Amino acid sequence: MTAQHGKAPLKSFASDNNAPVHEAVLRAVTEVNSGDVIGYGDDIYTLSAERKLKEQFGKDIRVYFMVTGTGANVAGLSHITRPYHAIICSDKAHLEKDECGAPEKMCGCKLIRIPGDDGKIKVDDLYPLLGSLGFPHHSQPKVISLTQATEMGTVYQLDEIREIAGFANDHDMYLHMDGARLANAAASLNVSLAETTMFSGVDLLSFGCTKNGAMGAEAVIFFNQELAEGFEYTRKQSMQLISKMRYVSAQFEALFSGNLWLENAQQANRMADLLATKVSRIAGVTITQKTETNAVFAILPPGAIEKLRQRYFFYTWDAQRNEVRWMTAYNTTEKDIEEFVAAIKDAVKP
Ligand SMILES: Cc1ncc(COP(=O)(O)O)c(C=O)c1O
Repeated sequence: MTAQHGKAPLKSFASDNNAPVHEAVLRAVTEVNSGDVIGYGDDIYTLSAERKLKEQFGKDIRVYFMVTGTGANVAGLSHITRPYHAIICSDKAHLEKDECGAPEKMCGCKLIRIPGDDGKIKVDDLYPLLGSLGFPHHSQPKVISLTQATEMGTVYQLDEIREIAGFANDHDMYLHMDGARLANAAASLNVSLAETTMFSGVDLLSFGCTKNGAMGAEAVIFFNQELAEGFEYTRKQSMQLISKMRYVSAQFEALFSGNLWLENAQQANRMADLLATKVSRIAGVTITQKTETNAVFAILPPGAIEKLRQRYFFYTWDAQRNEVRWMTAYNTTEKDIEEFVAAIKDAVKP
């Protein structure tokens, strides 16, 4: 995938996963690295980190730590569905495109894909699904899954989430949110984490911190506590119960003791905004999505992608359209953007 074997790594605009672990997170991990504590989360560090998340999301929640985002999505969704249910998601959703069929395998459910260039589900897209309810020949729509921020770097406004939550509630469905980049969305909307989830009617959240500077820290959070019943067993069966939990918990502690989570997200978003602003002035380059968080999508002239890729690592999003995705992270600097923009100018020169 990287084609970097044996060479110094190229600066990456491929994914926020490519950034190193934030030094405060790494420090927090080493700070808990002394003495014996009970495993599997029955320790003071995990208790403290759960408290920190409750301060963010509300005290009446149930929190379960994990280490992968796919694991969080699949464990959470499998817990609240039966195999005859359908999970509704965008056709751009990580669930649908990038989890190797794990949701279908582990939940046994059909995924219903809602098309949309910006990665967002609109409430009007959902009404046609109502015809399946109660009809035994069709999978029963049960969960609507939104990604916040979306895979296209766009964000759901609070009223959009609330409208979909209202629809779910009216039709006995649940609202799941894949929050692998929830911090970026909250920073973009300038709202709290609770406002874009619990207070907007989300039942179940996959909360990712790995892209926000952690090493591997994800959580399943139930806002609808009844749904959490028995989830400790589902987590174990999903192979996401970590024995040395304190090291996962320490990562949350580092991000949520102060505002590090927000500062990291704001920096990533600011750098994407700067990149989009500068790139939009380059003749021949077309930005294809609203830059609302830390992703920039752009179409480049033929040949430019290959030239630029000799100096930077990033993904082609749609080869037929010559469209690329560039992502920034908490560690992207203005200097990185200046240099990258200069390289883009160079690459697009006829
Ligand atoms: C929207 C979204 N959800 C979930 C994930 C989590 O994936 P992983 O299983 O690699 O941690 C990602 C990672 O790229 C993502 O972009």
